Amino acid sequence: MRRFDAEYLTHTRRGMWADSREALSTLDLSTRERVLDVGSGTGALTRVLREETPGDVVGVDADPQLLDHVEGPAVVGDAFGLPFPDDTFDLVVCQALLINLPEPVDAVREFARVSRDGVAVIEPDNESVTVESTVDGESALAGEAREHYLAGVDTDVTLGSDVASVLAEAGLASVEITRYDHARTIAPPYGEADVESARRKASGSGIATDRETLLDGGLSTEAYDRLRQRWRQMGRDVIEQMADRTYERTETVPFYVAVGQI
Ligand SMILES: C[S@@+](CC[C@H](N)C(=O)[O-])C[C@H]1O[C@@H](n2cnc3c(N)ncnc32)[C@H](O)[C@@H]1O
Repeated sequence: MRRFDAEYLTHTRRGMWADSREALSTLDLSTRERVLDVGSGTGALTRVLREETPGDVVGVDADPQLLDHVEGPAVVGDAFGLPFPDDTFDLVVCQALLINLPEPVDAVREFARVSRDGVAVIEPDNESVTVESTVDGESALAGEAREHYLAGVDTDVTLGSDVASVLAEAGLASVEITRYDHARTIAPPYGEADVESARRKASGSGIATDRETLLDGGLSTEAYDRLRQRWRQMGRDVIEQMADRTYERTETVPFYVAVGQI
């Protein structure tokens, strides 16, 4: 199972669903009595579901350490064998889970087993991520690293709008799909997490965590070393602009929300 760092999840979900929840309207959250958030992680979506649902919202995740960050009911469990009887919930939801699973259709079938009404999945298209930056070359370098990462990763992290066919294949009916663009901007005044992210770029420690995937994605070790050097220079440029309070960066990740009926 791919593991996630609590800090990384908090950082990358910052501001998500804070600007607009229109893309969640197809989930009919205001009418739900029991909702399950599978692969809840630190609870970024669980919190939103709790704000929008009058009923109970339960989180479930395979990693108990992440669940320590979730307020309210949350249990340890596997998406392929959920620890609940049939029809326990009226809606089962996940966010950024299927892209990390080898068999997303099997997981959705399991969601449908424990739901008596609907299943909703919210998944990004990591191939269509855009980065705008005041540092020359940051956008192109991020694109280059992303291309090799996508070629090397062993699950479909570009699932995006294909989530609709995953639901249909799992036997769900009347599938509807909407899109939400999650834009994350770094601008002055910089937060602690923004400074730490710049430090990780300049030291190369951030890109080093993806080394094996980048090599699997077709980079030779020499090409990886060159990419890492350019990445570190880009990080130093970011830190320099931060010191002048001129650094700005916006990353936009398209997320697709698909809802199907049991
Ligand atoms: C990218 S994170 C998304 C977390 C959260 N939904 C969010 O949007 O911030 C993926 C989550 O799925 C969990 N996960 C991965 N495989 C799982 C499995 N087989 N069963 C349950 N959870 C799993 C991970 O522990 C992680 O918390």
